[in-house]
Amino acid sequence: MKHKLNFIDLELARIKESNLHRKLQYGKAQGAHITIKGKKLINLSSNDYLGIQITKIQTNQLQSSSRLVSGNDESYRKLEDMLAKHKSQQNSLIYPTGYMANLGAISAIASKGDLILSDELNHASIIESCKLSGAKISIYKHNDMDDLGEKIKKQGKNKFVITEGVFSMDGDLSSLKEITEIAQKANAITVVDDAHGDFVIGKDGKGTPEYFNVAKKIDLYISSLSKGLGSFGGYVTSQNNVIDLCINKSKSFIYTSALPSFLIEHSIKRIQSNREIQKKKLESNLEKLSKGLKSIGYEINSETQIIPIIVGDEKTAMKFGKFLFKNGIFAQPIRYPTVPKNQARLRISVTAWLTNTNIEKSLKIFKKGYKKFL
Ligand SMILES: Cc1ncc(COP(=O)(O)O)c(C=O)c1O
Repeated sequence: MKHKLNFIDLELARIKESNLHRKLQYGKAQGAHITIKGKKLINLSSNDYLGIQITKIQTNQLQSSSRLVSGNDESYRKLEDMLAKHKSQQNSLIYPTGYMANLGAISAIASKGDLILSDELNHASIIESCKLSGAKISIYKHNDMDDLGEKIKKQGKNKFVITEGVFSMDGDLSSLKEITEIAQKANAITVVDDAHGDFVIGKDGKGTPEYFNVAKKIDLYISSLSKGLGSFGGYVTSQNNVIDLCINKSKSFIYTSALPSFLIEHSIKRIQSNREIQKKKLESNLEKLSKGLKSIGYEINSETQIIPIIVGDEKTAMKFGKFLFKNGIFAQPIRYPTVPKNQARLRISVTAWLTNTNIEKSLKIFKKGYKKFL
């Protein structure tokens, strides 16, 4: 008799045949470097964009329970007040991760009969949360305001426009000025997931809406503490009744353990720290790296610290990634389903950790890679 789990092998074989198989790699990331299999590589795949020095973390309790039971350490109130202030909103709510914040918040506020307009390149957690809500979903072409303008005319009890601030795989910015105008005209609720813009973009690091001067027009922000802030967790911020509903309806908030308080305290320290020097360093690193890549011949359209190098087919992207690894650079190839098929890429993320020497070495290797793979 056939083993009942044999179908798994077939499924894995299909994934492998399409060059889409993923393997976990174990590494130790430290500052500008990551060591994998004993090899020290320049890390161009970190989301710790500002590279804030790690302070010693003290912990006396790792776990208690969910926040609605006994896991609601008083440090949460302090951090949630700080995050609401950071976004000039009434209130905020911390979730264990940004992924869970998206799942929980969007499924709490949107429901059957509503209409969600979602950018086609939105993150997997947004896609899943929209499905979970039961609302009608209309996908508009990436950053295409004509398409959004048309699709928003469809029927819906409540209408929502959901977009990322900085698109995580392309590094471009959403057209927030136009989006908020279109949403306002249709009386739609604007939701921005700014996981990659928060603490990095905008004059005061308040994110993409600050950069476009439309912060007051955003009804609900969703973000991660695990990227620009260099800590861990996710949060939403909005007006009081939205947060109240999230506490009462978000399954990814109610039915899971609270983050340990030492992580909350760590986030508080990071928010209190002066991040200006790192922000300037990131800007200057970004300029050097993208100028260098352009001068080699790479087509760089990103405006942010996320720089995709589009390779096209998945096999070449994997080969390029291996070539970089061999030459001391860690830039992870990104493939379907994270990005569309045949748009495989190397996603470079620039951080403030990188030194001039790191950047010069990376450019030298990327020059060789350009000749070999593009
Ligand atoms: C746009 C976007 N939203 C949400 C998340 C999830 O955030 P977290 O890593 O905190 O779960 C990510 C993570 O990569 C992301 O890119």
